[in-house]
Amino acid sequence: MVQTNSDSAAAWQKEIYLRGFAGKRLEVSIDPIQLEQQAQKSMSPEAFAYIAGGAGLESTIHNNRSAFEKYKIIPRMLQDVSTRDTSIEFLGKRYATPLFLSPVGVLEMVHPEADIAVGKAAASLQLPYIFSNQASKPMEEVAAHMGESPRWFQLYWSKSRELVASFVERAERCGCGAIVVTLDTTMLGWRTRDLDMAYLPFLEGKGIAQYTSDPVFQKLMDEPVSGGEKRNITLHSLAGLIQMTRNYPGGHFFSKLMSGRPRRAVQKFINIYSNPALTWNDLSFLRQHTKLPILLKGIMHPDDARLAITYGVDGIIISNHGGRQVDGSVSTLEMLPAIVRAVGPDFPVLMDGGVRGGADVIKALALGAKAVCIGRPYVYGLAIAGQTGVYQVVRNLLADIELTMGLAGCRSITEINAETINAT
Ligand code: FNR
Repeated sequence: MVQTNSDSAAAWQKEIYLRGFAGKRLEVSIDPIQLEQQAQKSMSPEAFAYIAGGAGLESTIHNNRSAFEKYKIIPRMLQDVSTRDTSIEFLGKRYATPLFLSPVGVLEMVHPEADIAVGKAAASLQLPYIFSNQASKPMEEVAAHMGESPRWFQLYWSKSRELVASFVERAERCGCGAIVVTLDTTMLGWRTRDLDMAYLPFLEGKGIAQYTSDPVFQKLMDEPVSGGEKRNITLHSLAGLIQMTRNYPGGHFFSKLMSGRPRRAVQKFINIYSNPALTWNDLSFLRQHTKLPILLKGIMHPDDARLAITYGVDGIIISNHGGRQVDGSVSTLEMLPAIVRAVGPDFPVLMDGGVRGGADVIKALALGAKAVCIGRPYVYGLAIAGQTGVYQVVRNLLADIELTMGLAGCRSITEINAETINAT
């Protein structure tokens, strides 16, 4: 049974003010800019660079945000908005809200409970959570904490098709409702802040839990690894090896270290994780291996959106990876209307990138997205206060969505349309 969330916003608003009356505030800042600044204080410099940063001069991050300023909501009055329904239908299922959690990898950088804390918070709100291929906890562990709450799996298509098939099979078994194939990370973007720090979390064995927990990957680790060039051992590299060993699952530290498997896991991962040779024709392999809906994440061009339909996928997520891949890229919101025109109003289109407030969500829905996803904001909540922080960040945004929708004169998501906004 899906709640329609009517009045959920008022209840949360009341909770915040009553807490304030008793001298307590939420753990997380409500303002998204302050939220980021607050989160920075609870993260290592490396973690903050990794989460907040983008590619090159970070102009895509800037573009994602500024695109929202080009549109303005035009509120309508006297519409009896006493009940408000934020539920949506997507791929034949009903969801309580038009908000999904984007897949974000390496969450252990900001909190030890990582994906599990996010899964629990999402489940408490019945909010769909897209598990990352680069998660810090295996999908089975996260799913076990989520009851029947909706979850999808995001796939990076590695060089091993056997591994791709194994990930997808595991996702099906742990109740994922769709496979999201991220297309925009065939190579790691030129990430200025990470390069300046000369820091990549994967080298410490972080963010590879889906791999080390996979039987096919364990087999692949026995194969010879190419390109493992010898380097001088330094104190720093020893510390890295210790981290790598700690992050490898199971066993006693020294037996893991002596087995050499933690290091092999990282080397193998680096060798196979991305596949720049991927083409549209490869998608049929996925279709043969799953009955789940397939969505493509990273679509930015109307022609690619049309191709997605031609190749039989079930939906798309307009995304530029939160500005982490192509610097100087067009924003996601800017491309939304042309893409919706290309695929037609009924094709399942989601978007992410720079969504920070309720008004952003209303604008994206008015331009034809069926729902939107957020990335960094919930990670900041996680960094500040774990599961509670994620819950509060999401609950704040949901309240903002419901109130902005009602105050704009819309009783339900279906009433949000092109007339709700204008372009300036
Ligand atoms: C991401 N994103 C991402 N996408 C994906 O498909 N798989 C992944 O593992 C990750 N990992 C990841 C890590 C970090 C630190 C960030 C910030 C982002 C991209 C993510 O799913 C989403 O597209 C963006 O985060 C959306 O933009 P905002 O909401 O962060 O502005």
